Amino acid sequence: MIDGKKTLFSGMQATGNLTLGNYLGALKNWVTLNEEYECFFCVVDEHSITVRQNPAELRKRSRDLLMLYIAAGLDPEKNCIYYQSHVSAHAELAWILNCYTYMGELSRMTQFKDKSAKHADNINAGLFTYPVLMAADILLFQADVVPVGIDQMQHLELTRDIANRFNGVYGDVFTIPEAYIGKVGAKIMSLQEPTKKMSKSDENANASIYLMDDMDTIMRKCKRAVTDSLAQIRYSEEQPGVKNLIDIYSACTGKTPAEVEREFDGKGYGDFKLAVGESVCSVLKPLQEEHARLAKDKAYVDQIIKNNAEKAGYYANKTLRKVQKKIGFPERVR
Ligand code: TRP
Repeated sequence: MIDGKKTLFSGMQATGNLTLGNYLGALKNWVTLNEEYECFFCVVDEHSITVRQNPAELRKRSRDLLMLYIAAGLDPEKNCIYYQSHVSAHAELAWILNCYTYMGELSRMTQFKDKSAKHADNINAGLFTYPVLMAADILLFQADVVPVGIDQMQHLELTRDIANRFNGVYGDVFTIPEAYIGKVGAKIMSLQEPTKKMSKSDENANASIYLMDDMDTIMRKCKRAVTDSLAQIRYSEEQPGVKNLIDIYSACTGKTPAEVEREFDGKGYGDFKLAVGESVCSVLKPLQEEHARLAKDKAYVDQIIKNNAEKAGYYANKTLRKVQKKIGFPERVR
């Protein structure tokens, strides 16, 4: 609890280009949360190096992501938006929690299995202990709630197990976090294989709309989106491509799927795809403009980075000191 509010923590990696799915499914919904929660949104750059990164690119993408958080409407005065690497307590607590996490637990993580299969030439220890760093992120802030996608639920469960284990030995040190299940964001699927989630790591660029795609590209990708031969705009499981386009259009316009069906009753896929493309442009254009404005205002963004790192550091260190004391590290001499 901070100032009578529950605490919320979430993070995203700056690797890969963020997609419309990331925006409509996560970012857009985060914006509504800061009234109710004390929010921390982290750019988890330390997680990114579990896979080899180009330094200049990592730096640029991290800053882009931080600006995107703000451009998406997260007020950096009300939400603590910061870089993980600027708060050394993350790495310190992760080390400690490593000693309270079992090899067996980490071996069972499906993301580790997937990633080590994908990066067989670089199965480093960081990839293995990735979920422990994530646990440290969350537990440092005594987070009550963590909005995560289904793919991260296993990591959140592990975080709860580690926290309970630690509390079992040392008393109530950590808040046990819950997954945040609020108004769930739209789950956006691939434009080319609509039974698969739209993903920033998809090899087919036409499958995903990236937040930084220009308007022509967005229109082209929508026009090429895979549909079917039923020639009817219905929100049904039998028409996954059309259903996905309806979801996108709904999320971008605020209309319900039923309203969309009515609006396009008797119309062809060509007209519908055009409308979908335009609705996406109407959402992404202002986002890109705000991002561009921030990119030019270096002093402002730098100030946010500095202030928020201090704020995050304050809360994180409070927890870290408590943990260090509990486990018997010598007291600091002042
Ligand atoms: N592992 C998360 C992902 O790839 C990112 C992440 C890191 C995270 N630390 C977190 C998410 C803490 C929520 C809370 O999506």
